[in-house]
Amino acid sequence: MYTTDLRTAEEKAEEARKGVPRSALDTDALEAEFQARIDADAYIEPKDYMPDGYRKTLVRQMSQHAHSEIVGMLPEGCWVGRAPTLKRKMILIAKVQDEAGHGLYLYSAAETLGTSREELVRQLLAGEAKYSTIFNYPTTNWSDVCTIGWLVDGAAITNQIPLCRCSYGPYARAMVKVCKEESFHQRQGYEALLQMMKGTEAQKRMVQDSFDRWFWPSLMMFGPPDSNSAHSSQNMKWKIKRFSNDELRQRFVDATIPQAEFLGVKVPDVIVKNAETDHYDFGELDWDEFMAVVKGGGICASNRIDARKKALEDGTWVRDAASAYAEKQQVATVAAAE
Ligand code: 3HC
Repeated sequence: MYTTDLRTAEEKAEEARKGVPRSALDTDALEAEFQARIDADAYIEPKDYMPDGYRKTLVRQMSQHAHSEIVGMLPEGCWVGRAPTLKRKMILIAKVQDEAGHGLYLYSAAETLGTSREELVRQLLAGEAKYSTIFNYPTTNWSDVCTIGWLVDGAAITNQIPLCRCSYGPYARAMVKVCKEESFHQRQGYEALLQMMKGTEAQKRMVQDSFDRWFWPSLMMFGPPDSNSAHSSQNMKWKIKRFSNDELRQRFVDATIPQAEFLGVKVPDVIVKNAETDHYDFGELDWDEFMAVVKGGGICASNRIDARKKALEDGTWVRDAASAYAEKQQVATVAAAE
């Protein structure tokens, strides 16, 4: 066969490995091979060929996810000093530390796609990158902290269990440990609420009030309705997403309403079990509120970003010290080898 392509077979293989195809023909072949691997449920690894769009959407989603973990520490972390008992304080400290760890895994996993953690954090602080809308709502009392565990971590698990089978290997593997920890978070929150519901009338009112304020925003964590979800159809083809926003939202409602009933809180009248579908109908969410919060109009939005900026500034000396120590170690290693 005649060809104008002067590369040797070895050069072609090397370029494919590095993900730098030279011609459109090669790109088509690589993309077909890439999609075939995804269709066969193989993992895509950092050095494998991947289309730019796949890389871009993963950096977007994984960094949004990492930012959500880090920002998500704030509404709970501010309750560590006010937890009602030593036991609750210990559990809360462990949970907030877990969220920090999730952020770190996810930033590391996102870095395997070629964008540095410094750049991802810069995008968050500059308002260029999103984080979950849910963390723009305030925690006004202890019951809110427990409700976050039950509903917010519960919604997070529902969304994240399928991510353990995401096509991108480093993301999928990170999610396995994250989901185990989120499961503990959800249970401790629900158990703390069960205790409050055995308490005084004032405690029961606090639980009901928290449920009323957090239930609808927790449903918005799953993203816009499928009809308005810009990325869903491509991301499902790439098996980044395994289920649509609406499917996961429904799954969460179906699991949560029986838990709410067992807990003893009154669920909104609009939520009714549909005998035909065997799912709970819950009506339309307030998508105007969702969009306003996504665009930075949430009650706590500026407070959250200010807190992250301060954390970055306060940690400068730690990063400087770690870099200086690493340099010293490197010099010592080189000197020892000479
Ligand atoms: N908050 C903020 N932005 C949201 C959002 C939410 N709840 N839901 C959707 N969006 C944004 C998307 O990022 C996208 O914005 P962009 O195009 O400007 O980047 C836009 O709205 C359109 O939404 P799509 O449905 O098209 O977007 P996705 O296909 O990415 O789906 C998602 C959204 C379901 C949130 C998906 O990104 C996802 O599964 N992400 C991973 C999980 C995650 O980020 N979870 C954060 C929850 S909190 C958490 O994990 C902390 C834990 O400790 C509780």
